[in-house]
Amino acid sequence: MTILTIESTCDETAAAVISDTGSVLGECVATQESLHEKFGGVVPEVAARAHVERILPVIDTALRQADVTGEQLDAIAVADRPGLAGSLLVGVVAAKTLAVAWKKPLVSVNHLHAHLYACQLSVDYSVYPCVGLVVSGGHTSLYHCTSPLDLQYLGGTIDDAAGEAFDKVGAMLSLGFPGGPAVSRLAVSGDPTAFDYPRSMLHDRSYRFSFSGLKTAVRYSIAEPGVKDFSQLQIDDQTKADVCASFQAAVVDVLVAKSARAVDEYHAQHLIVGGGVAANPVLRDALQVAADKQGFGLVIAPMKWCTDNAVMGAIALEKIKRGQFAELDLDITAGLQRGF
Ligand code: KG4
Ligand code: ZN
Repeated sequence: MTILTIESTCDETAAAVISDTGSVLGECVATQESLHEKFGGVVPEVAARAHVERILPVIDTALRQADVTGEQLDAIAVADRPGLAGSLLVGVVAAKTLAVAWKKPLVSVNHLHAHLYACQLSVDYSVYPCVGLVVSGGHTSLYHCTSPLDLQYLGGTIDDAAGEAFDKVGAMLSLGFPGGPAVSRLAVSGDPTAFDYPRSMLHDRSYRFSFSGLKTAVRYSIAEPGVKDFSQLQIDDQTKADVCASFQAAVVDVLVAKSARAVDEYHAQHLIVGGGVAANPVLRDALQVAADKQGFGLVIAPMKWCTDNAVMGAIALEKIKRGQFAELDLDITAGLQRGF
């Protein structure tokens, strides 16, 4: 069996061709970072238009790499939730059109569940049952997972997502977009104890997270209250690095403590971690330290599959095994509400 997977939930247009064993036969990701950089964040309308331009060439590239024609596919999978409405629509319309043209069944994919499936794809044993942490630009969510498709939502952010906080701190320090990779690079030369930023909800017994207070604390540590134009701030390089390292330490402390507590409470053997922020080296190291100390197995998505990609859409194979196909009237679910 060979399937085509399509991903266009936010600002990456991606497609992959995957065999029934999960091997990647072809893969293509077109990023839009340069288009959104001047706005300091993803502009939904710009993202949707860019997806329209890129989606067919991206699919074509993945198929060519795999040396597979549309007719030879067994199914077409597409991420239909959650994400930006305009972005999701482009992928879903493309998938439905190709499904009709090539007479193939359609499979819908939950983008957050797919982020976690990137972990299962990277190992040759089952990670289930486990606790799953998704840390992306739009979500910070903890789940108890009994299979790739059976996930119980334990809690998530009540305001900014972890990646969103990284991006906003990056923007305050004029580090470009997306801020996450830039903040983590600069943090390497900073002192994580230089600023005593809050660890919000660290001791709250729920699995809720909050990062907006931390973001505000960073804001007041670098500028006087009235300042609105952060691009004019004169902050020396060492202070910037210290801010990045201290902010990152606060995010990592909370993510690690709550995930480790969930593993303990649910008697899970494994913790799996996916999403763009899972590429953060300090988070990866801190999770490993917690795993070694507490004695659970840790599977973090490989670096190349942390940020948005279509390979993680291989979770569609699990749905196919269960006979869960989508109808041609499949609609998008933007799902901006929490608890997804
Ligand atoms: O999963 P993803 O590609 O998109 C969403 O589904 O949202 O995640 C993108 C997020 C961005 O906020 C980006 O700044 C963050 O992941 N990110 C990082 C790092 N690399 C990407 N955050 C912290 N450290 C990193 N190294
Ligand atoms: Zn994502």
